[in-house]
Amino acid sequence: MGKPLVLGNWKMHGTQRSAHALALGVVARAAEFSHVDVGLCPPFVHIPTVAAVVFGSAIRVGAQNVSERGEGAFTGEIAATMLRELGCTYVLVGHSERRQGYAETNAGVVAKYVHAHAAGLCPVLCVGETLAERQTNATETVIESQLEPLVARPDVVALLAHGVIAYEPVWAIGTGETATPAQAQSVHAFIRRRLAAVGPNVAQSVRIVYGGSVKPVNANELFAMPDVDGGLIGGAALKIEDFVAICVSAEQLRRGR
Ligand code: PGA
Repeated sequence: MGKPLVLGNWKMHGTQRSAHALALGVVARAAEFSHVDVGLCPPFVHIPTVAAVVFGSAIRVGAQNVSERGEGAFTGEIAATMLRELGCTYVLVGHSERRQGYAETNAGVVAKYVHAHAAGLCPVLCVGETLAERQTNATETVIESQLEPLVARPDVVALLAHGVIAYEPVWAIGTGETATPAQAQSVHAFIRRRLAAVGPNVAQSVRIVYGGSVKPVNANELFAMPDVDGGLIGGAALKIEDFVAICVSAEQLRRGR
């Protein structure tokens, strides 16, 4: 695998002041996880503040969403080029909270992915099943349907090699419920196999991170799974100590591998 990746998804939390303090706290500890790529994804309006704090450090900034269109008359939207100009490296696309609460479709998510990549951002494609889908053994079918619009396009497949996929079971997000390491590994391996079918190089180099109630107490066992290349962290990313501990878990496993 490549370098592990740990991203903090701050969701719609914080003030300018708290965003500044959180970023500063993470930067101050960056030497403890120097073999891990770490990114912070604050709300749009806090991006300049966080970008200024992490400037010159190894910590990167990301956004939580991006428009599926290029610059134009689209009130309330943010173009990928604007995020890049602010210094963003990563952007989440297709987070389940957006798929469910804002009716994002698989086709729209692909458009975001392509725009983000074209602007020089690293898109993080989020996929995952609901509890009902898991209980009816539909997990792989759902993941397949979320990957399909990307893998069906050879131009997009090529981009995936340097991209990131986040497996986030919807039932584990913000619920305190975490997928077991075996459940996470099984879906991560499925994703990698699916990508191997369209491009062996893609499957090898894409990073597949796990998200859904990752905490300091469960990060080690999740990151120890062979196909888990890091994490997308929600609630625990809002506490400096917890987020740093999770990054350190990724660092230790990286060294151990
Ligand atoms: P959580 O969120 O860690 O709070 O479950 C993860 C996410 O939504 O990215």
